[in-house]
Amino acid sequence: MTPITRRPGASLKLFFGPGVSVVELAEQQLAIRGAGWQFVLRQASRGLGHAVRALAGAGATREELADHLLEHDGPAALARLYYHLDEWRASGVLGAVAASSTGALATLAPLPVPNPSGPLQTEEPAPDIPYVLSPFAYLRRVDDELMVESSTTGARILLHDPRARLLCMALISAHTRDALPHAACGLSSDEAEDLCALLHQARMLVPARPTGQPQDEHDEPLARWQFHDLLFHTRSRMGRHAGGYGGTFRGAAPVQPVPALKAPMSETAVDLYRPDIERLSADDISFTRVLEARRSRREYGASPLTEQELGAFLYRVARERATAAGENGVSSDRPYPSGGASYELELYLSVASCGQLAAGLYHYHAGEHRLYYLSPMTPDVRALLEDAARALGRHEPPHVLITLAARFPRVFWKYESMGYALILQNVGALYQTLYLVATAMGLAPCALGGGNPDTFARASGLGRFTETSVGEFALGSSPRPGPASE
Ligand SMILES: Cc1cc2nc3c(=O)[nH]c(=O)nc-3n(C[C@H](O)[C@H](O)[C@H](O)COP(=O)(O)O)c2cc1C
Repeated sequence: MTPITRRPGASLKLFFGPGVSVVELAEQQLAIRGAGWQFVLRQASRGLGHAVRALAGAGATREELADHLLEHDGPAALARLYYHLDEWRASGVLGAVAASSTGALATLAPLPVPNPSGPLQTEEPAPDIPYVLSPFAYLRRVDDELMVESSTTGARILLHDPRARLLCMALISAHTRDALPHAACGLSSDEAEDLCALLHQARMLVPARPTGQPQDEHDEPLARWQFHDLLFHTRSRMGRHAGGYGGTFRGAAPVQPVPALKAPMSETAVDLYRPDIERLSADDISFTRVLEARRSRREYGASPLTEQELGAFLYRVARERATAAGENGVSSDRPYPSGGASYELELYLSVASCGQLAAGLYHYHAGEHRLYYLSPMTPDVRALLEDAARALGRHEPPHVLITLAARFPRVFWKYESMGYALILQNVGALYQTLYLVATAMGLAPCALGGGNPDTFARASGLGRFTETSVGEFALGSSPRPGPASE
């Protein structure tokens, strides 16, 4: 007689997430409804109706659902049930609990919205293939629980029981399903197999290469990704996470906690030159010439940038053109765009040489179109300029380094999941405006891809988590003035 083999994951209790309900639309027509989505089941038999209600209620194992379906609808209905179960499991909308006789071991949390691309997998782990934890799985503490999360699928498994955590730890080296170290973790082999099935479904457990290394680390195209890049991508785009998304206000009071403009940062102000925008609008070189002439320029003229050029440049790029009182406090209007009109980016100038300006660090006040002097050329300000010189591949620093610092609370107050990504997008929009104005003025502009926020925090005295550098831009006079307007 052939022994009956137990399917891994057989005891997993499947369930839809909180807030999912089953609604009868018409006779034999049901809708499974969550927040902002629904799945319509046509010609839903009695048994299938019972199954989805069980999933939206206390949950049930695959076998329990199948038994009930067999009783009501007969064996022909099973294929459809399994088809839908796989579809919902792959889309992430069906959660699963692995339990022992003493309680829940781990829960695969359902995604609040199904992902039709099916990021989770539905095949069971093979008995004889060695599996290992994916390098894209990571552990963190969430509300008194330990959670393992995947940056490939966005799936999250709460490890309630220390034995489940031990198994996770053991899977940092490769094991086949048939040789899981269950006894060392205090688990039965069935419990370990169920946990293994959960991790596998979430793509946290991946096949190991003969060297024992996870395939994810070697196989294209995933191998190209660094862990933090993929996590940032998955968490800041839609589809593969449970967090809220976009301008949700994150439960905050309706008024911006941080004003649109910073108060003057010192008592030493430098008035800046204001170009004649009316005249420039009429006489400036054409937009197409500016676009076609735009280049990154890393060589500077023998004479440094002038104060008039710096004033005209900042005015044309970044001044506050107007303010408007809105529902969420005062909003700003500037020449460059900003997601949600947040205008969280502040410009700090490390001046190496610019007319009669004392060398040192300044803050640009966009509302007053003034510089506020913050410090002389301290070792940290010099370090900012030296880092910029290295990024430019030069020995000498640029005449002026513009550090773009984000006031994080102005964005994080409102935007969920995508706040930091939005800030970097704003950096890109500002970079292009800096490039175009510098080109129109015949100056030498170059964006920089990296900078050190710790150095900037020391140079400016600002708190690293409140406001710090997210972008850098080098500016100087040009050795060969190009198409210059004012
Ligand atoms: C986001 C960004 C980061 C950059 N980082 C650097 C950098 O660190 N060093 C540098 O010399 N150029 C940097 N550049 C300039 C690019 O090298 C340049 O834009 C690219 O080679 C195309 O040349 P072009 O700007 O002259 O058209 C950066 C440009 C951008 C947009």
